[in-house]
Amino acid sequence: MRTKILVTGGAGYIGSHAVVELHQAGYQPIIVDDFSNSQESAVAGIEAILGTRVPLYTIDCANEEALRGVFQAEPGIAGVIHFAAFKAVNESVQKPLAYYRNNLDSLLVLLAVMPEFGVESIVFSSSCTVYGVPDKLPVTEATPTKKATSPYGATKQMAEDILTDVAAAGGPRTILLRYFNPIGAHPSAKIGELPLGVPQNLVPFITQTAAGIREKLTVYGTDYDTPDGSCVRDYIYVVDLAKAHVVAVRRLLEKKAADKVETFNVGTGRGNTVLEVVRTFEEVSGQKLNVELGPRRAGDVPAIYADATKAETVLGFKTEGTLAEALASAWKWQQALGK
Ligand code: NAD
Ligand code: WQD
Repeated sequence: MRTKILVTGGAGYIGSHAVVELHQAGYQPIIVDDFSNSQESAVAGIEAILGTRVPLYTIDCANEEALRGVFQAEPGIAGVIHFAAFKAVNESVQKPLAYYRNNLDSLLVLLAVMPEFGVESIVFSSSCTVYGVPDKLPVTEATPTKKATSPYGATKQMAEDILTDVAAAGGPRTILLRYFNPIGAHPSAKIGELPLGVPQNLVPFITQTAAGIREKLTVYGTDYDTPDGSCVRDYIYVVDLAKAHVVAVRRLLEKKAADKVETFNVGTGRGNTVLEVVRTFEEVSGQKLNVELGPRRAGDVPAIYADATKAETVLGFKTEGTLAEALASAWKWQQALGK
């Protein structure tokens, strides 16, 4: 019998890849999603990769009765991975209440319901956004967090605090994964990022520009104090990021964690500039991008990348996908979308 793992937001970009990796590692993922930022086609893609059905519950996980119903319908859930959240930084500035409600209510409800069913392990999707503009690079897990610059970022900091307080008071064993910038798609090109509307993130904007959906890519800022003046980020292949969740879940279920709450950066440990990403994409795709060098985007962090040592030494987790491989997979996915 496979061990059941509840995956909230399991139809989303990262969640769908994690569902595949969990199943391939021998777990039984159970998807909860309300499709507020995803499509049912993602679940079809997961099932096509796995060649089997995956239980899906279309509910808002901030709905306590509905969430309780899922735990009742799926006895024996051993752990939870909580991806479900709104994630658009700009939108969170326009609609702070929607972000605080969705991102915090969903967590609070989950934490209220889990003990009713004896579920004692949770992996949470945090973000490098908690570090703000760091004073020193690379950032380690001990790098101080800074006051969030957006309501979205604030929800991640608050969620980390809530999980820490609840764990200290007898709540679940917790792993906080601070993701850097996930990119790319499953090598099968059956699942990938499905941005609704105009993409805010770099890589989907690049692939849509190459596909002719967008006229040009604007590079936001070329006067930063970085090797070529454009911003530096730590781009992690989404399949690698998905695998980090399998390792984290296993550690929690095997009760190997050193502390009730553990925090890990999940990045490659390398920084790449926007212009390097553009150049690498052009090389792997053979597509010439229409690129405009533009002004800075308000709120952007000039440079951030992970010190990935803790995840490697403690979790035994190391990324494998290169920037070129990740970008090639993103292009393959864009072409599979056929639009
Ligand atoms: P996504 O929007 O593709 O996936 C989130 C999924 O959760 C979507 O399928 C959405 O429909 C669902 N959802 C949202 N609110 C829900 C609710 N109340 N009930 C049920 N389902 C709900 O986003 P993603 O990129 O896969 O991100 C997953 C998680 O990782 C999020 O918590 C996000 O904040 C975090 N994160 C993402 C990034 C990134 O760059 N993509 C970086 C750091 C952290
Ligand atoms: C990457 C780089 C842009 C688009 C955001 C969130 C963060 C985390 C990841 C969730 C930046 C540049 C982008 C474009 C560009 N999410 N860029 N032209 O800003 O690192 O992080 O997503 O937790 O919280 O803030 O990601 O993909 O938007 O940008 O030049 O059209 O690409 O300036 O340097 P970012 P991104």
